[in-house]
Amino acid sequence: EPGAALPAASGPPARTQPPGSSPPDLRKRQTKDFEFGGILGEGSYSTVIYAKETSTGREFAVKMLDKHQIVREKKVKYVNVEKDVLHLVVHPFVVKLFYTFQDTHSLYFVLELAKNGDLLSHLRRYGRFSVPTARFYTAEICSAVEFMHSKGVIHRDLKPENILLDDRFHIKITDFGTAKILPRAAPGSQAAADGGEAAAPEYTHKRRASFVGTAEYCSPELLNDREASHASDVWAIGCIIYQMLVGRPPFKATNEYQTFQLIIRRVFQIPDAVDADARALIDRIMALDPAERPSIEEIKAQAFLAGTAWDSLERQKPPNIS
Ligand code: ADE
Repeated sequence: EPGAALPAASGPPARTQPPGSSPPDLRKRQTKDFEFGGILGEGSYSTVIYAKETSTGREFAVKMLDKHQIVREKKVKYVNVEKDVLHLVVHPFVVKLFYTFQDTHSLYFVLELAKNGDLLSHLRRYGRFSVPTARFYTAEICSAVEFMHSKGVIHRDLKPENILLDDRFHIKITDFGTAKILPRAAPGSQAAADGGEAAAPEYTHKRRASFVGTAEYCSPELLNDREASHASDVWAIGCIIYQMLVGRPPFKATNEYQTFQLIIRRVFQIPDAVDADARALIDRIMALDPAERPSIEEIKAQAFLAGTAWDSLERQKPPNIS
């Protein structure tokens, strides 16, 4: 919407804090509060830069967005969605948003720094993960996405590049710029049964058609009816599990069109060497019909993840990635 407001420069939301900790510092930050370092990542509409807060020495990843480009290319809504989602999905396995501010030309999102880069770089470096490592990261991804889904958020672009690793090698999911927030439905209502879709006037055909995630992780329903639901995130998780164990995504051709052909025909093979429980899980997740796909809750109960201590993931030592 051309008239829509940019993320407000004022009014940080109330934050809760653990008992006994010092009160959060709610002062509005400015670029001069930070010493900026190298580029951590670049997207179509943003650059993520390493930054250290001068007064405290705290390290952050600062996402910078060009205001004119965002308005020109009509991405204001997505910037607002990203900020709203980050405030909604506060979880140990999701990148935290500490502060936002703006100056004449840019918007700044001060994010939690994930020191060990993204899952894709590690997969490229080591080829593929051992079964225990793949199992552990599958569990952390499921834990984060289950929480997201419980808050009515669909990520829509889950892929190894958007799964970062912190200093302890635990995951931090990032990049909610293309996420969707489902309207809050009363429990037991028809809208709730429909996943909230029916009651959402803003999701017109035109709107729905505007976004398709990264080709390799794109679900068949997104290609057929351009409709994303929780099940589309589940499909992407299936692709990521496959990639962690095999070293490449299940659907990959020479170009996007050919990749989409493989997806809608469900043309993929799981190498014989892949763990039998993982194979069974991937096969179940990769159902063409989103209604047949397991929910995250159901995935958590599958044999591949059966031994997971779900409540202590955050405190466990991740198996080696190499
Ligand atoms: N690249 C993109 N976002 C990042 C973050 N929060 N931490 C480290 N690298 C990143």
